[in-house]
Amino acid sequence: MTISQLSLTDFRNLRSATLDFDPCFNLIAGENGSGKTSLLEAIFVLCQAHSFRTCHLKQCINHTKSNLLLFGRFSDFKAGLSRSGSKLVIHVNGEAVKRRSELVKRAPINIVNSDSFALIDGAPQKRRAFIDWCLFHVEHSFAESWSEFKHALRQRNRLLKTRQDLKLLDYWDEHLLKPSLRLHQMRKRQCAVLQKIFALELDELLHGIPIELEYRQGWPESLELKESLIEHRQRDVQSGFTNFGVHRDDLILTSQGRKVGEVLSRGQSKRLGIALMLAALKLVNKCSQQRIILLIDDLQSELDLDAQKRVYQQLREMDLQLFISNIDSGKPEALAAKEFKMFHVEHGTIKPRNFS
Ligand SMILES: Nc1ncnc2c1ncn2[C@@H]1O[C@H](COP(=O)(O)OP(=O)(O)O)[C@@H](O)[C@H]1O
Ligand SMILES: [Mg+2]
Repeated sequence: MTISQLSLTDFRNLRSATLDFDPCFNLIAGENGSGKTSLLEAIFVLCQAHSFRTCHLKQCINHTKSNLLLFGRFSDFKAGLSRSGSKLVIHVNGEAVKRRSELVKRAPINIVNSDSFALIDGAPQKRRAFIDWCLFHVEHSFAESWSEFKHALRQRNRLLKTRQDLKLLDYWDEHLLKPSLRLHQMRKRQCAVLQKIFALELDELLHGIPIELEYRQGWPESLELKESLIEHRQRDVQSGFTNFGVHRDDLILTSQGRKVGEVLSRGQSKRLGIALMLAALKLVNKCSQQRIILLIDDLQSELDLDAQKRVYQQLREMDLQLFISNIDSGKPEALAAKEFKMFHVEHGTIKPRNFS
């Protein structure tokens, strides 16, 4: 999927613009504070109905305005999104849609930014979100299992919190169990596939340092999930939430039995983060047979020149629509031979430019 045109109004410091994008390479240049990340964010929000910078879309509305508007033409659909106060309205092909997933499933999008490197040493939630992003785009049944699971977990936690109707716990355990086991199997399988692709990326980026990627279930290994729910029920009632389950799953990265955080330098850890991301992009590219929209924000401030070069060399081989933000207007060396469309951002105004 590619986005061919974006119209935006009052998105952060970007007041109003209609931009025609290249299906492959787009470079966004401008000084610090000009609005480059905001433009990438606008594309992301239009595809995902949430932001990578904030959980509150309201913050994306220009400070002096009360609503923001986004409209985009994609290869085979049109999407519109407006946010005014607390009201979010999403349109796909002119029809209002209620479920976010109706929008999200249409255009796989991801971003590489300083946050991507938190994949390695950040909270488990980041790694779960990472594996689930792959699953969402390659496993047709993932979205349904995920929403069933979330609904059941919310209901179970509500019972545990209020301690009313605790006799309904059996019912919700049953409803939690089925989608949880499906998610468990999907994540386990996906990790095994990812590990294989990932090994190739590592050769390139970490010069052969051995790294093992392992799926760790969010409940004791010695127990079936059903047993774990029963065994920990008392503890759950006391704490007012479900202590164990797939919502506590994690991906564990080790090198020869030791946690990567203890072994790798900061620079190596960043290379590892990007290798994981590249592996996921390859996987989704291959399985979904869809072009992925990839936003790359300020890579030069995160990775050394050699790593940047290797990353761009890999990216040029994939089927992606790239949006790269840069302070200067030079193309990354490894992509120098490619045709780019360039946009120059200055104090919230975006102007298409030709390379001269
Ligand atoms: N809701 C908002 N309304 C108006 N301006 C905003 C809003 N949110 C952020 N900004 C401003 O937008 C400017 C551009 O930010 P950003 O896109 O991060 O720039 P860049 O990535 O080019 O460094 C910043 O000066 C920031 O303070
Ligand atoms: Mg920025």
